Amino acid sequence: MDFQKSITEIIKSRYSCRTFDSKNIENETLNKLNDYIEKINDEAKSAKINSRFLYVSSKENSNKSGKKLGTYGVISGAESFIIGIADKENHDPLKFGYLYEKLILFATDLGLNTCWLGGTFNKNDFQQNSSLLENEFIPIVSPVGYKKDKPRIFESAMRAVVGANNRKPWNELFFDENISNPLNEKVDEYAVPLQMVRLGPSASNKQPWRIVKNKNMYHFFICRTKGYGVMSFDMQINDIGIAMCHFELSSNQLGLSGNWQKLHNINNLEEWEYIISWVS
Ligand SMILES: Cc1cc2nc3c(=O)[nH]c(=O)nc-3n(C[C@H](O)[C@H](O)[C@H](O)COP(=O)(O)O)c2cc1C
Repeated sequence: MDFQKSITEIIKSRYSCRTFDSKNIENETLNKLNDYIEKINDEAKSAKINSRFLYVSSKENSNKSGKKLGTYGVISGAESFIIGIADKENHDPLKFGYLYEKLILFATDLGLNTCWLGGTFNKNDFQQNSSLLENEFIPIVSPVGYKKDKPRIFESAMRAVVGANNRKPWNELFFDENISNPLNEKVDEYAVPLQMVRLGPSASNKQPWRIVKNKNMYHFFICRTKGYGVMSFDMQINDIGIAMCHFELSSNQLGLSGNWQKLHNINNLEEWEYIISWVS
């Protein structure tokens, strides 16, 4: 078992932290984090998704390029980051999101704070500190360290702007058989995994996941945000990977067995695109 605390507890305690303390991560904790990053890199290799993950600290790098890792003032105080690296042409944002969220949850379990960043970081600074190969780029980074007791006013204001504490109501996200019939939270055996999906982080808190239950299957769809373009990396498919991670890990914890299958007889539903199914 990779995690010490229960996965539901870890998911509930994670949030995007944007104000960090200068305190160093203890060696023992850092070793555990680096070992887990290696494990996730092995999983990425086996899945052939042309992605890898790296711990970088601008403190340790100060004698190399000496570059401070920039986040346009969105993050303060952080000097250590988990960097997500992917092949420019040939990568898999679904599996990338799934694996990167495992890293985020593992760090949370170690008592560390994090914040997914897909936009507000200086790509050049990070590229210079990460020894990229020619065909690689960095779609995601996260600061990793300890939160400052008092967040900056900027952080609270930013959370208010994206409504970071809010989640869409259950009946807009989860359905039984068809999309006019919301799933009954009180009786569904997968209520907890679905609640954990709902708590997940997503780019600009858009929560693009929609799930339709059909007997022993939970079909995952994406409801894309209009005008949210896909450039080098499909941030919203990455969000569905995060949802898969929360759903699978909390199902495992509850002893609900199943696996992921891309089914060929599931159609898109109006504006929702079918992605994958959990078959129990
Ligand atoms: C793929 C992805 C990209 C994100 N990019 C940024 C970013 O560039 N800057 C930022 O401040 N927050 C970013 N976030 C954090 C979201 O705004 C945050 O997850 C959401 O508002 C919900 O808040 P919470 O994580 O505290 O639950 C990103 C989150 C995800 C999942």
